[in-house]
Amino acid sequence: MNKNLRTPCIAGNWKMNKTPAEAAVLVDELKAAITAPECNVVICVPFTDLPVALEKCAGTPIKVGAQNCHFETSGAFTGEISPVMLKEMGVEYVVLGHSERRTYFGETDVTVNKRTLAALKAGLKPIVCVGEYLEQREQGITAELVAMQTKIALQGVTEQDLKNVIIAYEPVWAIGTGKTATAEQANEVCAVIRATVAQLYGKAAADGMTIQYGGSMNAKNAAELLAQPDVDGGLIGGASLKAADFSVIVDAAK
Ligand code: PGA
Repeated sequence: MNKNLRTPCIAGNWKMNKTPAEAAVLVDELKAAITAPECNVVICVPFTDLPVALEKCAGTPIKVGAQNCHFETSGAFTGEISPVMLKEMGVEYVVLGHSERRTYFGETDVTVNKRTLAALKAGLKPIVCVGEYLEQREQGITAELVAMQTKIALQGVTEQDLKNVIIAYEPVWAIGTGKTATAEQANEVCAVIRATVAQLYGKAAADGMTIQYGGSMNAKNAAELLAQPDVDGGLIGGASLKAADFSVIVDAAK
């Protein structure tokens, strides 16, 4: 595996945090802390923070993403936001299938696949999340489960479009719990995802794909996780809300 074939990506997932006024403050701090990153840097903010984030990040190395989108372009889907709406605003990335969406909002592998296809069609870059619950890890089915989630999420995605997809391995037991997967555990599952992509699209496509780890990644453990051969970045929740911590993680992705 050649890590040089892919660009690392550090993405912050703000989740349901920060009002627009608070977002303005944090984005200013991030802009001051992250001036010349050697990786792709994205902040995935609540829908209501997108205007301020887009305005303030224009012309900077920080890219802006949303945290979900619907699979239809428009219609009777009260409360939903379509990928076309995000694209028109200037949004570049979108997190899809986060375990919090799967657990609390009934997201399934099939709807994650529909959203992935719709996001790509609209010209967005999806960050597709996969990962196991603690019980599934203890049952010894992590590899099979994550391979299945990856396969279903990518159904119908062309090899060309795959270049715009990032997959984030997020073990559910490590999210927001302070329990990070060990660097070896993270790498092992990221390698399973890469092997699954290789099966579907061939080795070259798999070697070029950015695969992130997420789950309690922070300023202290980022360097070790990011040094793993199959870990090409991170999806960061809690630590993305502090500019000082997030910028240390960005620096660790050199
Ligand atoms: P965490 O969240 O870094 O707070 O564990 C990661 C995520 O849910 O994307």
